[in-house]
Amino acid sequence: MSRLGPDFLPRAIATIALYPEPRSAMLPILHLVQEQNGFLTEEGMAHVAELLGLSQAEVYGTATFYDMFFTHPVGNYLVSVCTNIACLLNGGYELLEHAEQSLGVKAGGTTPDGQFTVEEVECIGLCGNAPCLTVNWRFFGDVTNEGFDSLVGDLTAGRLAETVPPHGTLCRVRRTVGLEAAAAVESTSVPELESGERS
Ligand code: FES
Repeated sequence: MSRLGPDFLPRAIATIALYPEPRSAMLPILHLVQEQNGFLTEEGMAHVAELLGLSQAEVYGTATFYDMFFTHPVGNYLVSVCTNIACLLNGGYELLEHAEQSLGVKAGGTTPDGQFTVEEVECIGLCGNAPCLTVNWRFFGDVTNEGFDSLVGDLTAGRLAETVPPHGTLCRVRRTVGLEAAAAVESTSVPELESGERS
């Protein structure tokens, strides 16, 4: 499925309604496409353009600017190994090399079974637990080679299904309170002045 389907389209429409300008909802809507499809398909991006009243080029230009969006298929598990300074000093490159050897794929590549994509990334903000990585943007710190192999085993066996959602899922908890479209419009409108307040 490439266009937003029945599980995602209502969420997209509700999100668009939160913004004064539909185009402001582009990033969250692109994340919905990626959550549904695992990456940004051409048809999915065309649907976003349609929903926001934009050209496909505008959507594509934005999507390709950000590291978290993929316009090509990636594995079920996106393994992002940090090699920035704290991790570099604590074995980040050795961990990346081990990940490549262990999974049999170079950084940027995907295993033939489509399970794992490995990438090298800049600081992910877990410097105190270097070397570290994320899997589908969930953090794992102080990762040894043995720990990496154990992590891969757990992922493959589905033992971390509660911790690591499918690639593209930013959050599995849905907001049930707080900002709503009508409330957003009210809060941005200029309140009526009482007659005594008029000059
Ligand atoms: S340098 Fe690796 S998390 Fe900051």
